[in-house]
Parts: sequence; C-alpha cells; structure tokens
Amino acid sequence: MKALILVGGYGTRLRPLTLTKPKPLVEFANKPIIRHQIEALVSTGVTEIVLALSYQAEAMKNYMKVLSEELKVKITFTYETQPLGTAGPLALARDILWEKDTDPNTPMFMLNSDVICEFPLKEMLEFHKNHKKQGTILVTQVQDPSKYGVIVHEDSGKIQKFVEKPKIFVGNEINAGIYILNINTIDRIQLKPTSIEREVFPLMAKEEELFCFPLKKFWMDMGQPADYIRGLELYLNFAQPPKPEKYQNVDIVGNVVIDDSVEIGDGSVIGPNVSVDKNVKIGKGVRLANCAVFSGSVIDNSSFLSSSLIGWNCHIGSWTRLENGCVLGDDVTVKNEVFMNNVIVLPNKVISESIPQPKIIL
Ligand code: GDD
Ligand code: MG
Repeated sequence: MKALILVGGYGTRLRPLTLTKPKPLVEFANKPIIRHQIEALVSTGVTEIVLALSYQAEAMKNYMKVLSEELKVKITFTYETQPLGTAGPLALARDILWEKDTDPNTPMFMLNSDVICEFPLKEMLEFHKNHKKQGTILVTQVQDPSKYGVIVHEDSGKIQKFVEKPKIFVGNEINAGIYILNINTIDRIQLKPTSIEREVFPLMAKEEELFCFPLKKFWMDMGQPADYIRGLELYLNFAQPPKPEKYQNVDIVGNVVIDDSVEIGDGSVIGPNVSVDKNVKIGKGVRLANCAVFSGSVIDNSSFLSSSLIGWNCHIGSWTRLENGCVLGDDVTVKNEVFMNNVIVLPNKVISESIPQPKIIL
C-alpha cells in the first residue's frame, strides 16, 4: 500500500523552531514529528511513501534517506515549483501513486504532516474497505472547531457536509488530517493549486463518497507552540514511556521521556510532561515541567522552566525562570537570573535582561 504525506507548508505558526528546520522534522517526544507518522504507516503495511515537498527540501531529503533504510520503506519526493495546496500534490504524484494496471479502487493513505494521534490506521483501513466508497477521513472532537475542517455525518459515518474553517458553528467534530482515498480520487484533481478541504471533500460528500472514522484517543495538530505543549502531555499520557532509572538523586514526576545521553544534576525535579533530547546537560536543582528541551542545549543550576519549548543548542543560565509559552529558536543564550514570560526568541540571540511581558525578540 502507498501513502502520500503533505510536507509543504511553511510552518509559520511554529516559528522560531521552523526557521532552522522544516516543521515535520521538529522533534516531538524526541522523534521528528514525521517519524511518528512513517512508523505508524509502515506498521500498517505501507511500503512506499511519497513526500510532497515545496519548502526546505534538502533537509527533508537527507533525513528521509536514513529513515528509509532504517525502516525498510521506499520514500520518494515530489517538488512543487509553486505551492500546490493540499490536493494539487496528489495530481503531481499521479504516476507514482497510480501505476499502470492498478485497480482504480486501490486505497492509499494521505496525511497532513503535523498531526499526532494514536494512529488507528488498521481499523480505519478495515472500515474503509467495508463501506466501499471513495474516501475515509479520520475525525476527532475539539472545543474550538473554527481553525479546522468541520464534519457533519450520519450515524453510519457517511459525511453529509465538510466545511473548512467555518465562520459560524457547524459542529465540533473535525478533520484530523488523515485520510484513506481510493487512487481514482486523483481523477478529481487538476495539476494546479487546489485545496482538498475546500474544493474536493465538499463535492465528495455531496456525492455520498466520503465516510468518517472516529478517533477514540488523543489527537493534536502540532502547528502552534501551545498545541505542541498540550500534545506532549496527551501523547506521554497515552504512550506511558518507561520511567528513566539511571538518575539517582533526581526526582522524576509523572510522564517524561529523556534520552539516554542526557546528564542531570542532583536535586533536580523533572516532569510532568517533559521531553529532553540528545546531549542535553541539566545542572543541579533545576525544575522542568511541561517542557520540551531539544538536543544540545544546556540548562544551568537552579533554573525553573515551565510550559516552554527550548530549541536546539540553547544555553540557559542559572537562576533563570522561563514560563507560560516561551519558545527559543536554535542557539539562544539566556543569561543568569533572567525572567521571561511568554517570550518568543529567534535563533542566535542573547537575552541579558528580564522580559516580563509577552514579546517576540527579532
Ligand atoms: N506539498 C504541499 N504543498 N503541502 C502543503 C501545502 C502546499 O502547498 N500547503 C499546506 N501543506 C501541508 C502542510 O505542511 C500540512 O502538513 C498540511 O498540508 C495541512 O496544512 P496546514 O497549514 O497545517 O493546515 P491546517 O492545520 O490549517 O488545517 C488542516 O489540518 C487540520 C487538522 O490539523 C486541514 O486539513 C483541516 O481540515 C484539518 O482539520
Ligand atoms: Mg496544521
């Protein structure tokens, strides 16, 4: 079975992290977001994946070469000279996805590259094969549906209406960004910028060719820092990673994932809902909660970090306090005793004074 992953967006809402890395390669629980997806696809029997690229293609290609060998899956790329939206890439990949003599009703997976969930792909595929229509969309429920694609359906799962980013309330069941489509869906799409959510799904729903399959557990679109932090909590709660045993005088609270290479000083309290990636050094008496610390960063003694994302190779001085949605880009230095509240810092900056009000440091 084949799959196509849309990796073409600019990831603007996850800046400054996406200034130095494409969004699908930003780590989530110490693994690139896209790796979670590719692992799930491979374990469902997918053998060939097309990545629809339109931005920062080189970094993606390098990582995918390694991953393709490791997971024994064929990974190919399509390149867009102009962004083709969320449907156009299907037309661009037509010859790869739809080989000669392949049955037009052969199913394939299609994914947005920024979503994380429990990936019930096998159950979804079974459901798709049973209803015998052209497409299946994975759905979940959210409190604020206005930033998603909203779905109205019958009890059978047959979709009656698909409304992308509705201005007035339609319902709170939304498109989770994971689809199974029969390959002849490609016949509906021309090779030009096209939105699958606005131009293709509403029509398929009208023709009664679209069903939805409900997610039972967690789901998150990782496109924004606050959602990333919340998603980390949900994911760790679901995945229940083993508690790290090697730290003698460190208090591990709740769910955390800490790479084996990480050093942590005595008296630190780590957790809940924390990820710490490769080669991070954490000093003594440090407190981390609801945070992701990316590889190569150093956090000095007695610092307190909560609900924040610390980019790669940062240096956080001692007695600092970062809270309430701080996001640091690659290679940011925060001097000793600085306090930061909801501050976004672009790569390669040095912060020497406290910033108590929400701010973006350019
Ligand atoms: N190749 C390519 N080319 N990919 C693109 C392009 C493009 O021109 N534009 C966007 N993408 C990719 C993004 O990288 C992402 O993986 C996916 O398409 C969806 O784009 P987002 O920008 O993340 O959309 P969204 O989050 O506002 O809304 C989408 O996802 C929601 C679920 O998270 C929609 O599919 C909604 O209906 C859905 O509810
Ligand atoms: Mg998104």
